[in-house]
Amino acid sequence: MHDYKNKYLQIITHLGVFTLGDKVYKLVCFIKEGQKALLADYITLFINNQWVDSKSGKTFENFNPATEEKICDIAEADAEDVNEAVKSAAAAFKRNSKWRTMDASARGKILIRVGEIMMEQKHIISSLETLDAGKPYADSLGDVEHAADVFKYYAGLADKSLGKTLSPDGQYFAYTRQEPIGVCGGIIPWNYPISLFAWKVAPALASGNVCVIKPSELTPLTALHMAAIFSEAELPAGVLNVLPGYGATAGATLASHPGVRKIAFTGSTATARKIIALTANNLAKLTMELGGKSPAVILPDCDLDQAALYCHSAIMTNCGQNCCGISRNYVHADVYDEYVAKAVACAQNRVVGDPWKEDSESGSVISEVQMNKILGYIESGKREGAKLECGGERIGSKGWFLQPTVFSNVTDEMTIAKEEIFGPVQSILKFTDIEDVLDRCNDNEYGLAAACFTKDVDKAMYLSHNLKGGITWVNCADILTTQTPFGGFKGSGYGKELGEDAMKEYCEMKTVLMKMSNKNS
Ligand code: NAI
Ligand code: MG
Repeated sequence: MHDYKNKYLQIITHLGVFTLGDKVYKLVCFIKEGQKALLADYITLFINNQWVDSKSGKTFENFNPATEEKICDIAEADAEDVNEAVKSAAAAFKRNSKWRTMDASARGKILIRVGEIMMEQKHIISSLETLDAGKPYADSLGDVEHAADVFKYYAGLADKSLGKTLSPDGQYFAYTRQEPIGVCGGIIPWNYPISLFAWKVAPALASGNVCVIKPSELTPLTALHMAAIFSEAELPAGVLNVLPGYGATAGATLASHPGVRKIAFTGSTATARKIIALTANNLAKLTMELGGKSPAVILPDCDLDQAALYCHSAIMTNCGQNCCGISRNYVHADVYDEYVAKAVACAQNRVVGDPWKEDSESGSVISEVQMNKILGYIESGKREGAKLECGGERIGSKGWFLQPTVFSNVTDEMTIAKEEIFGPVQSILKFTDIEDVLDRCNDNEYGLAAACFTKDVDKAMYLSHNLKGGITWVNCADILTTQTPFGGFKGSGYGKELGEDAMKEYCEMKTVLMKMSNKNS
């Protein structure tokens, strides 16, 4: 069995001071040696292609949730640093800048190069992600490969942003153009740091925008490493800036900054409300990917093993810290007991442990706060009368590991059936009538995703068309692909990421209307 840590990661405590030209840099970000990630004990901000301390000199500590040990210090961006980054991004977006005058296909080539470097360095990036987020190494590797694909996919769309020619009334000719918006702020959470970085940065840059990215304060490492990769791919200075820092300071300044024209956010609905209010200041265009409480409807005619496995994986992957996890299983009464038994077997067989070990399917949840929040929900499930079939406890005393947990006899009014838990907690509810179950599924604040399992094509279409979820799966669950748009309804937000449609989120359409002359002179 592999121990990926010894194979791919080396932590050193002092990289020291180094000079480049006439500049003295306090510390570098990440350097590679063979396929090992070498990590500095202090990492700075990345503004205008320079690694810089924060203006305030403040730093914050970054931890490994699987060991509770400190990884390194990170420069803490604040309002002044955000101002500086927005200024350098705006300069890179000026009319005749290198970036604005570059062929669209050349932008695409930079993104292809980024995807290629990511694949060359996939073990480095995966090591950083596992260290920072506590997720199993194989999951990190999957996320990195997906993120590299996302860069390559949008590279191909860079020179295909087409407008229309129009036939207006009168002696006029008109066409539309898809133009980049300008400075795009990306605010990223901790559950899928590298994937969500790619989902935001790839279409933004493919469309010709410039970016200021604030990764989560809990998981800044891979975004910083991506800054180093973009430098290597020779992205012009200022086009991508990475500013680790806290939400209430760096994040809020970015969201309300008058120089920012677009905010793409993934995170909680509560924080989204604050960000939306902050953008009253700059009227930034918004993409909001928020929480979920996604249902699956399991009919008696389906392949029950397949349904149980998909739904298990859709709630237990990433310890349930997954916005489109299936957290409500509505199972027909005829197969209810059988399904519960299968769900419990899947949960009990799941290997939770050291994220560096090859057989670990779940690692640690992100923080003590998150663990306690999940345990609080488990207590509420027990208190409100759900039947705890398995799990429910913390594992060990070091790192934030939780047992995969299954509740049966869950009813709609219980807290665990209504609120987003964001943990490895599967709730199984019972139904007998399709119309009734549709109403129950849709009676929730969220509308991110939904699934149905049946071999009857009429029922599959009826359910998938009537379930209120931005993505609706038939006979599968929690499947996101680079090519298919993803984004929620209702309290789960608006706008789409992934697929061709995400390009529109980073463009504004201009109409050019010309007077035609009848004279031939
Ligand atoms: P959060 O939504 O507060 O954090 C996400 C990002 O927003 C982070 O980069 C954070 O620094 C930033 N942020 C926080 N406050 C901000 C503000 N006032 N202005 C601008 N940016 C701000 O999520 P948090 O607190 O880490 O997790 C709390 C809960 O949110 C989780 O338990 C989960 O239920 C949900 N969540 C959902 C995610 C999803 O993928 N939909 C991702 C992360 C969390
Ligand atoms: Mg961390």
